[in-house]
Amino acid sequence: MSEKKKYYVTTPIYYPSAKLHIGHTYCTTIADSLARFHRLRGDDVFFLTGSDEHGQKIQRAAEAKGMKPIEYVDEIVALFQQLWKKLHISNDDFIRTTEPRHEKVVQKLMQMSYDNGDIYKGKYEGWYCTPCESFWPENKLPEGKHICPDCGRPLELVSEDAYFLKMNKYADRWLKFIEENPDFIQPESRRNEMISFVKSGLEDLCVSRTSFDWGIKVPWDPKHVVYVWFDALANYLTAIGFIDDPEKYKKFWPADVHIVGKEIVRFHSIIWPIMLMSCGLPLPKKIFGHGWLIVDGTKMSKSLGNVVDPIPLIDRYGADALRYYLLKEVRLGQDGNFSLPSFITRINADLANDLGNLLQRTLAMVEQYEDGIVAGPLVKEPVDDDLARCAVETAKKFEAQMDAMKINDAINDTWAFIHRTNKYIDETTPWVLAKDGTQKDRLNTVLYNLLESLRIIANLVSPVIPVSAAEIWKQIGLGNFDSANLPDAQVWGKYPAGTKVCKGQALFPRYDLKEEIAEEAVEKEAENKAKEVCPAAKEPTKPEITIDQFSANDLRVGKIIAAEKVPKTSKLMKLQVDLGTETRQIVSGIALQYKPEELTGHNVIVITNLKPTKLCGVDSKGMILAALDGKDALQVVFVDGMAPGSRVR
Ligand code: ME8
Repeated sequence: MSEKKKYYVTTPIYYPSAKLHIGHTYCTTIADSLARFHRLRGDDVFFLTGSDEHGQKIQRAAEAKGMKPIEYVDEIVALFQQLWKKLHISNDDFIRTTEPRHEKVVQKLMQMSYDNGDIYKGKYEGWYCTPCESFWPENKLPEGKHICPDCGRPLELVSEDAYFLKMNKYADRWLKFIEENPDFIQPESRRNEMISFVKSGLEDLCVSRTSFDWGIKVPWDPKHVVYVWFDALANYLTAIGFIDDPEKYKKFWPADVHIVGKEIVRFHSIIWPIMLMSCGLPLPKKIFGHGWLIVDGTKMSKSLGNVVDPIPLIDRYGADALRYYLLKEVRLGQDGNFSLPSFITRINADLANDLGNLLQRTLAMVEQYEDGIVAGPLVKEPVDDDLARCAVETAKKFEAQMDAMKINDAINDTWAFIHRTNKYIDETTPWVLAKDGTQKDRLNTVLYNLLESLRIIANLVSPVIPVSAAEIWKQIGLGNFDSANLPDAQVWGKYPAGTKVCKGQALFPRYDLKEEIAEEAVEKEAENKAKEVCPAAKEPTKPEITIDQFSANDLRVGKIIAAEKVPKTSKLMKLQVDLGTETRQIVSGIALQYKPEELTGHNVIVITNLKPTKLCGVDSKGMILAALDGKDALQVVFVDGMAPGSRVR
């Protein structure tokens, strides 16, 4: 038997500086679909994702929350992992750059490069983009402007001691490598950008920082921490055992493809290869720069408030629906738009109608006409050959397309075959055959061919919609999807005749577009409302007091034993409050928000030493505490369960 081919695919490791959005989801879904395709084909796959946890950006984000960086990243990384689980991401490892296994690798690479004479000490005086963690030499900036060419945000002027990597030393070698390996950077437009970037002159790269300490220490000079990109890129070596597991490293390195967004192609296709050249290590085989997902025509940004959170989409429409939409709708390498109407349209048309219907109709007929078991192909007609030929051709083309990362073409051709199969039902009219007792064998043949088509379809859709593929597999009676494989899907006739199908739930529900849009609007409004700062929060805080001044308030728990509205007023409520040793009458302005019966029996906090007064002619001795937002919302502070008379401090 020939040895299995290995396939090592990676996503970028994401910064745990904010929640992940559908842009990140897009990138990871691309990599996941490739990993799943290669596994289906029988390759030995290693699929890596993870988190990029060091650097100034993270340190600042943690400080802003009053947290230690590690506590801060721990919390966010747990959310990343939940998201990948929800999206059925099949990564073989999740690397965190704060792990000891990674620290060792980063230090080793720094040392190798240093020992080769490629790292020297100096001082960095120049521009830095903290959100991108990127140094910008003046000659790469738009004239006179100090904004980041990648993200458009203002740059900071930095001046600090640093070590530098001799990038320029490798510029010619890099250009020669790119010439000899024209597929190294894809798509081609990105390759051309990178070539002109290098040709315009490569500055040496600052590979350490000294103005903060959240990072991996430079091994020979621990006052420096390793530049976060040098640290991050090394993750691709750590995870396959560069230091700890030489056999695994030998098997999987070089990586087959690093999938990255277009804005970080520069780091992966210039800095990373030069780091590796400097260490004398082989370069990855391919860097693929995908486009951005934009939302309703504009780039997602926190300030625009158009960042789309994938979690509610997955919760409402399912992981497969989102995965399908991202991979189908966005042409790999180009920017693509996300909009709810087009998402719903895809679910209804492609998933529920084309695919879901094919499965439902087929299984309903197999159950109704043949009690769930089809005898096999018995009486062939030319239309069957056409279906079989189309199936095999599609499955073979699919392999070539996915191998070449033409995911959109693979999806489109698979759906063309799904349409062909639906048409086969109309051409063969099984319901007519079922009425004719002499057509039993032909009916069995038609139904067999439909089940066989579904078997092949389940294989071809599995990299994109794995949960649905496994469901189709189960419903057509083939059990666990682990038994599926691409070589079998490229041969017609492998569906075992005599299999009992087990029809289950519809694969995809249909949605009413108008209802979904209305629902989204309601949710957005609620979200915006929740984000609004209440008027009370904007009121200035009162002058500072001492603890003694605060202690001058006698705060006690009191139980409301009776409540009634004060006649002829709208807001006032007369309360009888048990304070343990006495019962007080207190008038409180809470009648708009509470009915008497909602108060009686509850414990509240009372300021007992407030000077007695009369409100609308009614005696009041004390006051109860309530929270007010400065508009209409008011909530009494209840402390049920505490004995009347208890002190409150
Ligand atoms: O850059 N559309 O991490 P990051 C598509 N830690 N993809 C998008 C996107 C969008 N709107 N927004 C983000 C980093 N992405 C570094 C990587 S790797 C050694 C270190 C994706 O959290 C895109 O893949 O900023 C981009 O490359 C990645 O998120 C950046 O994630």
